[in-house]
Amino acid sequence: MNATNIGIAITDSNDWTARALVRSIEMRGATPIPFRLSEMDSFAFNPPEINEMDIVIVRDVGAGAFEEVSFKFDLLRILAETIPVINTPESIRNAANKYYSLYLLKKAGIPVPETVVTGNSEVAMEILCEWGELVIKPIFGYKGIGIARFKSDSDLLGSNRRSIGEILAERGVAYLQEFIPITRDIRAFVVGDQVAGSIYRYARDGWITNLSHGGTPERCVLDSFQEGIAIKASDAIGTTFAGVDIAETDEGSVVLEINGTPSGRGVFEACGVDVTRDLVDYAISWVRGL
Ligand SMILES: Nc1ncnc2c1ncn2[C@@H]1O[C@H](COP(=O)(O)OP(=O)(O)O)[C@@H](O)[C@H]1O
Ligand SMILES: [Mg+2]
Repeated sequence: MNATNIGIAITDSNDWTARALVRSIEMRGATPIPFRLSEMDSFAFNPPEINEMDIVIVRDVGAGAFEEVSFKFDLLRILAETIPVINTPESIRNAANKYYSLYLLKKAGIPVPETVVTGNSEVAMEILCEWGELVIKPIFGYKGIGIARFKSDSDLLGSNRRSIGEILAERGVAYLQEFIPITRDIRAFVVGDQVAGSIYRYARDGWITNLSHGGTPERCVLDSFQEGIAIKASDAIGTTFAGVDIAETDEGSVVLEINGTPSGRGVFEACGVDVTRDLVDYAISWVRGL
């Protein structure tokens, strides 16, 4: 059999996970073909690279304006008509959308925090009174950006500079979620139907644990319930490779959200576990099994 060629959709060639994927692919005797979706414009309907690739791993799609992101997703969809794409564009989209992904998680019977999405500021204020404390998240947010915690509308905590009314006026809709008192959460990495690694992420101060927010990764061993919900969550969203955020509450563990293009850096730094190896092994066995 010829050597396997694995395309890697990247945005930053210096990104830890992009480099780790290149390394893991080479270690397995396969050939990495990193490419940028943003550079495929001139041959959008027939990218010549397709002919060289047996499979594509999406490291990340990158942020951007609606049309740009939409265009990149369409490129992935076109690629996926010809060769396997991990994760599928649909599953990356599902994961990026906190409202739709929570719907899918709930439907699959996975415990999630109590959540309401509304465009009505009176409803939002009633919910705040009822719950006492909540977080508001952008539906398409990432890296803890734009998340705000409220105790009462006038009592803006942390770096909040805007009221719930202002957030609603800007976004048109507010994703409200019960506040879970945490100083750490869990990030579980799922590859296929197995957990490839997991870490605690301790917040630098407060409750936002994202490593890009100054959080610290530490070794973590999941209990069997946590392992089960992580795998089930990835299955519900349709991802092959996922980072599942889990919060521990007094009533048990809940899934906060799922990431379809997670970074492998934190779990490597904390535990020496390189989840890109599992992902590459999975991709190679997929190609060989075709
Ligand atoms: N309901 C919540 N209660 C308490 N903290 C939360 C809650 N939801 C999110 N967080 C904190 O905010 C961080 C980012 O939230 P998350 O839903 O994972 O969005 P992002 O896509 O920005 O990572 C989490 O890792 C956690 O530390
Ligand atoms: Mg998160």
